[in-house]
Amino acid sequence: MPPHDPTLTACLQPTGPLRPTFCNVPEWAQVTLYVAGLLAIGIFAYGIYRHWRVWMAGQPGAPARNTGRWGERAGLVARYVLGQSKTLERRYAGLFHTGILWGFILLFIGTALATIDWDVFRLFFATRLLGGPFYLGYEAVLDTAGLVFTVGLLLAIWRRYVTAPHHVLGAWDFVIWSLVVVNVTGFVVEGLRLAIAPVAWGGYSWVGQGLANLVFAFGGAEFIQGPARSLHLWLWLLHAAAAPRRRWCSSRRSRSPTRCTWSRCRPTPSSRTSSPSEPGPRSSRSTSRTPSSSACRGSAS
Ligand code: HEM
Repeated sequence: MPPHDPTLTACLQPTGPLRPTFCNVPEWAQVTLYVAGLLAIGIFAYGIYRHWRVWMAGQPGAPARNTGRWGERAGLVARYVLGQSKTLERRYAGLFHTGILWGFILLFIGTALATIDWDVFRLFFATRLLGGPFYLGYEAVLDTAGLVFTVGLLLAIWRRYVTAPHHVLGAWDFVIWSLVVVNVTGFVVEGLRLAIAPVAWGGYSWVGQGLANLVFAFGGAEFIQGPARSLHLWLWLLHAAAAPRRRWCSSRRSRSPTRCTWSRCRPTPSSRTSSPSEPGPRSSRSTSRTPSSSACRGSAS
């Protein structure tokens, strides 16, 4: 490794296990990440505002059915959201759905902890959160969660394109594929990082270390210190940029946010190519993919 390269200094962990933030990532890319992050927060806040307007458009005198009863409502969240008891009634769909959900929850917590570690603990307390045994456990849990997430996505894709039961429609394809890209690039970035700057505790990042071993086996030292570093950086950028987006219900058709609800993104009965009682794969998926056959006609954001 070239000794004076500042971008590689961030990869080194000379005092023991410590999350290597911005390893092989130059300053311009770091600034881009923060600017894009602020932009994403702005768009997110605008989305919340649009939903808030929909909620506020309700009848002022309507009974408040969904307030109070905190214990009961928390129980429903635990059972149906976290426990996925409804989706698990269909074993295959429930299994991949639970994997995707929990993979996402754990990776979300992991990404949030990484931000807190770097932008709060380091900056304000001059210490680090993701170091030592806690960091090693963090790596092992996140690699496992990422793999479960990826397998869940692949099972979902198999169902959508191969077994294709009549009630599975293609409106969310972009989200699924972008999540696959994010997960796969995440692992490859980790694997390349462990190849460029190996550490004795790499085995805790067991999926990434497996990929790094492949790089050691098939790429020489020249590849690792040359093309592998460029690949690491470009995949890092792709990984950060491929954040999934949901279908954006266009406000061009109507200025009213009440016309942009989740229900508009559900299929209309006419979009089905076979009757609901018909089991097995659809004969053709093309009809269900035309914009006019879906209740959501907005452009993808
Ligand atoms: C939908 C959101 C995201 C998902 C599903 C996701 C998924 C993953 C997965 C599966 C890995 C490999 C396992 C691991 O090290 O945790 C990973 C690694 C990584 N992710 Fe993400 N990620 C997301 C968002 C982000 C964002 C916004 C960033 C900021 C740039 C980021 C930066 C990284 C980095 C730098 C690595 C490599 C870590 C290493 O070298 O050990 N991720 N991601």
